[in-house]
Amino acid sequence: MQDEPEVAVLRLGHRPGRDDRMTTHVGLTARALGADRVLLAGEASQTRETVADITDRFGGPFEAELVEGGERVVRDWDGTVVHLTMYGLPVQEVEDEVRAAHADEPLLVVVGAEKVPFDVYEAADYNVGVTNQPHSEVAALAVFLDKLFEGRELRREWVDPEREVVPKETGKRVEPADEGD
Ligand SMILES: C[S@@+](CC[C@H](N)C(=O)[O-])C[C@H]1O[C@@H](n2cnc3c(N)ncnc32)[C@H](O)[C@@H]1O
Repeated sequence: MQDEPEVAVLRLGHRPGRDDRMTTHVGLTARALGADRVLLAGEASQTRETVADITDRFGGPFEAELVEGGERVVRDWDGTVVHLTMYGLPVQEVEDEVRAAHADEPLLVVVGAEKVPFDVYEAADYNVGVTNQPHSEVAALAVFLDKLFEGRELRREWVDPEREVVPKETGKRVEPADEGD
């Protein structure tokens, strides 16, 4: 988020066709919950376009990028690397340490699709479990980002939206964004 070191999310192991929807949800969740960028390893151009389109319509800043060699991104990351995995240390035990690291340097949050190569477990500074039960990369990412930002991401201001949702008790209301928002 603004005025803080970057948070990037790396989506590893995307399988075109099979993972399209899940990879898109990783990107949209990263954007909505305070990350600055999603890095998509593999043939995920459809996801990149969808996330860019949502950012154009509902505001940024947020970037979606295709990368080659996801494992290399992990190895070369200039900052802290958190790999979300059901086999990792419980998030509630490491969140303070990760937050302190992120106060000083960029954070890369890695989520998988199919089996994640063991090199990633070794290269990560923290292997973190959101519970030690199997579930979903989208759920793990959402809980992790909310803990990292301690809820601040829910009050994020969006820059240059074309339209805005007006919260309502019942029904749906979307309006053109005010000039200067
Ligand atoms: C459907 S899981 C597949 C994991 C795969 N079986 C493996 O062994 O790597 C896809 C991704 O969801 C995330 N994930 C699933 N459960 C998790 C948990 N309890 N804590 C953190 N991340 C989790 C991980 O990033 C994982 O790579």
